[in-house]
Amino acid sequence: MSNQPLFDYSQLPAKRATRDNPLRGKSILSVAQFDKEIIEYLFGRTREMREMVQRVGTVNLLRQYVAACIFYEPSTRTSSSFIGAMERLGGRTIPITSGVEFSSVSKGETLADTMQVLEQYADVIVLRHHEIGAAKMAAEYTHVPIINAGDGAGEHPTQALLDLFTIQDELGSLDGLKVAMVGDLRYGRTVHSLTKLLLQYNVKLRFVSPEILRLPLNVMNQVIDAGVDVRETHDVADVIENADVLYVTRVQKERFTDLRQYEEVKNFYEITPELMKRAQEKMVVMHPLPRVGEIHYAVDSDPRAAYFRQVKNGMFVRMALLAAVLGQA
Ligand code: NCD
Repeated sequence: MSNQPLFDYSQLPAKRATRDNPLRGKSILSVAQFDKEIIEYLFGRTREMREMVQRVGTVNLLRQYVAACIFYEPSTRTSSSFIGAMERLGGRTIPITSGVEFSSVSKGETLADTMQVLEQYADVIVLRHHEIGAAKMAAEYTHVPIINAGDGAGEHPTQALLDLFTIQDELGSLDGLKVAMVGDLRYGRTVHSLTKLLLQYNVKLRFVSPEILRLPLNVMNQVIDAGVDVRETHDVADVIENADVLYVTRVQKERFTDLRQYEEVKNFYEITPELMKRAQEKMVVMHPLPRVGEIHYAVDSDPRAAYFRQVKNGMFVRMALLAAVLGQA
């Protein structure tokens, strides 16, 4: 591998140079920005990124760029995959990911001020925040693209894009699938974003949650308006036999105001090898991770367990996104 030349982007098909990049200079705030055409564009770039990493590991595509990654909420995958994505593309990062308590945020600096400072150093800002709408607000104050890496119980567009990419990659297409979402559908932002993205495809949706964690009405209304075949249930057993995708999520403890309620629902589901015996041979199990008991560790060796492959895809999708917003895709 070390003898191979660095990946030469000029050697890619000529249409690369002329095609339009719909994401150039754009902030990535919500999945509402992504229609099928943009998704296809992004996934094409994502496959190129994967191929590039497999062949040569790193390139210098973003050598002249710096990304600031600021996380007001804990993160492992999202922060490290964005940083990894910049590293793979030869860019640099300003990582403020191990606790804003060590930054001026702890001195009372406003989000708007922090953003206006970071844009003096960086060409793009990756932001995770605990308030819904924080990324949108940040984008109003800055001139560089903001990438929403999760805004409270709101959206998590880059996660949804990598989830969508993984479904397509694992099962070959999106149309015709029955996707079951399981767990905390109320506070799980990844569920909100993925559901909205899936509405563009010919899918059937099944929502499985305890009563208090049902999908929020505003998201459910979008599902109903899209005319999608949809059903809600409390029981995974109702969906396990026919689902093509089982998208499992963690109960979001940090969003509960009453911890007694959390205690009541925290162990509501566990995907076990026994349950998996009833699922289709080609079903995929996904999870945005971290898991805290929703999927038994014994399921990991089942070839249908796609959650670690999903993690890997996350870096490729984020590489494609960073290159695109920086105008280098
Ligand atoms: C998710 C998140 O932060 O919303 N994690 C992630 O980004 N991979 C899901 C979660 O925290 O449960």
